[in-house]
Amino acid sequence: MNIKIRSEKISDYSSIAIVNYEAFMGLNTCKQYVSEPVMVDLLRNNLLFDPELSLVAEVEGRVAGHALFSPFRFIVSGNVQPGVMLAPLAVKPEFQNKGIGSALVEEGHRIAKEKGFTLSLLCGHDNYYPRFGYKTRMFSLTGIKAYVCFKDFDGEGISERAVRECDIDWITEAWNKGHSSDSLAIFPGKNISDWSSYSKRSRCSVITKDGKVLGYVRVADSDIPDVRELLADSENIPDILAYVAWKKYGRAEGEIKVAGTAEKFSSIVSENLTVADDIAAYSAYMIKVLDDNSPVVEYCDGVEKGIIKPGVISFHPVFDLDD
Ligand SMILES: CC(C)(COP(=O)(O)OP(=O)(O)OC[C@H]1O[C@@H](n2cnc3c(N)ncnc32)[C@H](O)[C@@H]1OP(=O)(O)O)[C@@H](O)C(=O)NCCC(=O)NCCS
Repeated sequence: MNIKIRSEKISDYSSIAIVNYEAFMGLNTCKQYVSEPVMVDLLRNNLLFDPELSLVAEVEGRVAGHALFSPFRFIVSGNVQPGVMLAPLAVKPEFQNKGIGSALVEEGHRIAKEKGFTLSLLCGHDNYYPRFGYKTRMFSLTGIKAYVCFKDFDGEGISERAVRECDIDWITEAWNKGHSSDSLAIFPGKNISDWSSYSKRSRCSVITKDGKVLGYVRVADSDIPDVRELLADSENIPDILAYVAWKKYGRAEGEIKVAGTAEKFSSIVSENLTVADDIAAYSAYMIKVLDDNSPVVEYCDGVEKGIIKPGVISFHPVFDLDD
């Protein structure tokens, strides 16, 4: 079987959607729909998107597999690093186990390395990706559990609205301020779509109090509200968390998950607001070092040896489609 790996062309979009649709339907037949084909379309809107890193595997002129390596600006141990995120990787069911997935991953690494990317990050099968050099348990998507209890809070003066174009500058500035010293972070981008919601179960909002902006919050609605991004000055955070709890529970009292570290939130702890570590670095959360001279090496070694706590990150809001 002759496998040809090449970059995608616009004329491949439909075949790529079919590959992703069939591969992921095969994986999860219980789901009513699959989000991966839509995710690929949305990730192509990212300003850093590089079609040379969206690879197809062609077998006898047919597209049999697809791998998307999306470039993002990462923070690794407080250093800006160009990295890629591998998602999705898909091979049509009838072509699986013939080396196509491996060929796509290896060619993606080769190209990404050549272009100067220093790491590749993914969430995936822990019995598949380590063969390509991925290290497991390298980050967490959960950080702390906050418990808020503001008995007098009634939401008065607080409003929630959609993100507008005019918010992007202060939101990106707040992101830089909040994340530039992180051990690991992924900058979503500078488009309004990088700060907007793609899932019915999550919302990206600007919270205001008496007309004044308090901050930006991205929250996924589950049994416990899951705050995936919170960008605000520390004096505004208690109001925002009280509001999130109030919206969910009908009173400003209860548990909220927040993607951040306890250290980061230590300054806002009070008798009304406590935080506890909830870092879960599952084996599916993997990183491969692409540049041996980059700070990624020290980060991965440190996490592996338990010297550095796994970074708490949030994926781009596009991935909320998977909720
Ligand atoms: C996972 C996937 C991309 C692998 O591609 P592939 O072309 O079938 O894989 P390869 O032929 O390169 O490699 C085959 C090896 O991968 C293993 N493998 C295949 N699918 C796997 C999976 N879902 N989990 C773990 N290992 C898997 C095979 O057992 C085989 O192992 P071996 O070499 O030890 O015998 C493909 O099976 C697929 O599209 N699956 C559905 C979608 C999916 O799960 N995508 C990845 C999301 S993280």
